[in-house]
Amino acid sequence: MHYFQYRNNEMFCEDVPVQAIARQVGTPFYLYSHATLTRHFNAFNDAFGGLDRLVCFSAKANTSLAVLKLLANLGSGLDIVSGGELFRGLKAGFSPDRIVYSGVGKRVDEIDFALETGILMFNVESLEELELIQMRAEALRKKARVSIRVNPDVDPKTHPYISTGLKKNKFGIDTESAISAYQRASRMSHISVVGIDCHIGSQITEIQPFEDALKSLKNLIQRLGNMGIPIRHLDMGGGLGITYREESPPHPIDYARAIAHVLGDLKIQLILEPGRVIVGNAGILVARVLYRKKGLAKEFVITDAAMNDLMRPILYNAYHEAMPVVRAEGESFTADIVGPICETGDFLAQDRLIPPVQSGDLLALMSAGAYGFVMSSNYCSRLRAAEVMVKGDQFVVVKDRETYADLIAGESIPDFL
Ligand code: LLP
Repeated sequence: MHYFQYRNNEMFCEDVPVQAIARQVGTPFYLYSHATLTRHFNAFNDAFGGLDRLVCFSAKANTSLAVLKLLANLGSGLDIVSGGELFRGLKAGFSPDRIVYSGVGKRVDEIDFALETGILMFNVESLEELELIQMRAEALRKKARVSIRVNPDVDPKTHPYISTGLKKNKFGIDTESAISAYQRASRMSHISVVGIDCHIGSQITEIQPFEDALKSLKNLIQRLGNMGIPIRHLDMGGGLGITYREESPPHPIDYARAIAHVLGDLKIQLILEPGRVIVGNAGILVARVLYRKKGLAKEFVITDAAMNDLMRPILYNAYHEAMPVVRAEGESFTADIVGPICETGDFLAQDRLIPPVQSGDLLALMSAGAYGFVMSSNYCSRLRAAEVMVKGDQFVVVKDRETYADLIAGESIPDFL
């Protein structure tokens, strides 16, 4: 459920007409709904109500300070994968003891930053990383809390680019090697072993892969317990899918029930790292139609948003519903929705039945709140879009559209030129 709804053929975000925002802010822009974000976070968090749990929103899905602040206010923790995300998380007010740090390639400066900050735990993905964290913790006179990210070799049945828990993927440590990694970690002077972690993929629409991964982790926890290595936190990662088109992913309640069932009476704090399921359907990308054009083989709707604004269609062949901001009378037609960039891959939709739209009309690309703005770029020296948040009948620009000055900020022309 989200709060982008038509009233008299005009799309509203909560109580604000989307076209009123476009008039004031220009296009393209990302638009987030406060009520939807709140609803999604609470629905997910409450689903695990009976369990000792910490929901750590996965920052990578949307790092808008406004979105992060809203989630921090709701009691979320944060899952980060870079020093930059840690920086943003702290700016947004997350308490360090609710921050977990995942990722296969943590740099020394990032490890130091996280150690100085005192985060809840590092999800360690290799032996070399473990050694480095021990070394840096010793140098900084800190104790690093760690979990090992286990690769349970489970097929999440999603797009190959976002499957992460198969043995051919770069992520985590296989279950047998994890045991020796734990033994090693438990002997290190500046490491405190506190958890176990996995993340098997994203946009997962079935429960079974999660159950399989959890069973494998539970088994490991028991083996570690027998070896005198107690585990306090079990981090299940993120990955729960959303409906872009016709997918019917499990409801968080069913997901939580399945997890609780596998956990049984295991005494542990569960950590979850949802990203997409919280923000995906809480955001849209609004673009203006520049031109319509009929080729010999296809018709095109050319908008002022392009692949640099929303990478998902070209990167994962992802589907985003295109809805008119104002519904007009007339015939639907089949066309590609494309941007102004000089690449054939610059499309937002292909061979799509599109409601009647003309040059000057506004189109909403739905379900764009996750991995939308965060993956945008300045390709072709295009200015990155504005971001706007609506709450009730008010809207606020939470990130200005970039300017030409922003585009060259930090650049210089050397004297020898
Ligand atoms: N935790 C870890 C360690 C992750 O790597 C991810 C996502 C998450 C949590 C959050 O997963 P979610 O709940 O959002 O599925 N750019 C791609 C998605 C990449 C996901 C990467 N990892 C897309 O646009 O579909």
